[in-house]
Amino acid sequence: MRPKVFITRQLPPSAMSRVGDVCDYFVGTKTGVLSREELLSGVRDADGLICLLTDRIDQEVIEAGTKLRIIANVAVGYNNIDTVAAQQRSIIVTNTPGILTDATADLAWALILTVTRRIVEADAFLRAGRFTGWDLDMLLGTGLSGKVMGIVGYGRIGRAVARRAAGFGMSIVYCSREDIAFRDDPQHNAMMAERQSGARAVTGALNQSARLDGLAARRVAFNQLITMADVITLHVPLAAATQHLIDRAALAKMKTTAYLINTSRGPVVDEAALSEALKEGRIAGAGLDVYEREPEVCEALLKLNNTVLLPHIGSATRETRTAMAMIAVENIIDHFSGNVPRNMV
Ligand code: DGY
Repeated sequence: MRPKVFITRQLPPSAMSRVGDVCDYFVGTKTGVLSREELLSGVRDADGLICLLTDRIDQEVIEAGTKLRIIANVAVGYNNIDTVAAQQRSIIVTNTPGILTDATADLAWALILTVTRRIVEADAFLRAGRFTGWDLDMLLGTGLSGKVMGIVGYGRIGRAVARRAAGFGMSIVYCSREDIAFRDDPQHNAMMAERQSGARAVTGALNQSARLDGLAARRVAFNQLITMADVITLHVPLAAATQHLIDRAALAKMKTTAYLINTSRGPVVDEAALSEALKEGRIAGAGLDVYEREPEVCEALLKLNNTVLLPHIGSATRETRTAMAMIAVENIIDHFSGNVPRNMV
């Protein structure tokens, strides 16, 4: 008997056709997000589930899917899935790493350039008929060459952002998962500070991935990074250690001329604290693609003109979204063909 797969939202045609080669499937909705009731009823009869980051796959959903063996998320982030509840029922969870690296890094850079060069403001200025001639100090922005790029989270996407930063003539500092987890530990911070001092600063803190990329990226402590960077860009998964990583205290340590970019997950930033810092000019600007309570966007942020706000489009290229759907499908097919899925989390 062919396995039954519930696909919460219709995928691109190539992915639908591929899943149909091996499984029977039923689709929750052609567009938009499924209601809770539709989600609960959809998983009831399914052996496999393909879902999006907008589907909250919590304990209730997992328990409703009594036959579920695998949940394939069409996203690299999987904070929408209760992985502990899934593990308790020996349900496999997969994601789509790698394939959206360049699209997301490109979008982080689009935000960096847009906010530092005031592109949205400039476009609105021209459309409002206010461009009456070139002027020496019209819409001045901030240059990037020679500035410090601070990358929080140095996985695939963080490194792709770093490669682009090198092309813009920026120096690169980053902090790793460990620096984030131990950010308030004095011993860790002392060790990191020691690594930065003297000759070892030049080579000692280049890690393997930085060397492989041929980049002079320097690993620093989290608190060092936020103090020294001109642009801080976030590339961490949402977890207990990263929830409100950028809070009031972190914002207070940033340079008043610095920009914050977030293409990771909204709750990594305390939006209320960020809005205050932006409003009071305590930092220069922010470029955001993700929000604490998506699709809601904090009112205060909407009122500011030193922000660029996008609707979570980090991976939104035709090529990438199709590839993400295909990978989710291949994970399902791996499992139902008796193989270990290629992207188990
Ligand atoms: C992901 O895959 O986690 C991204 O946020 C989707 O754009």
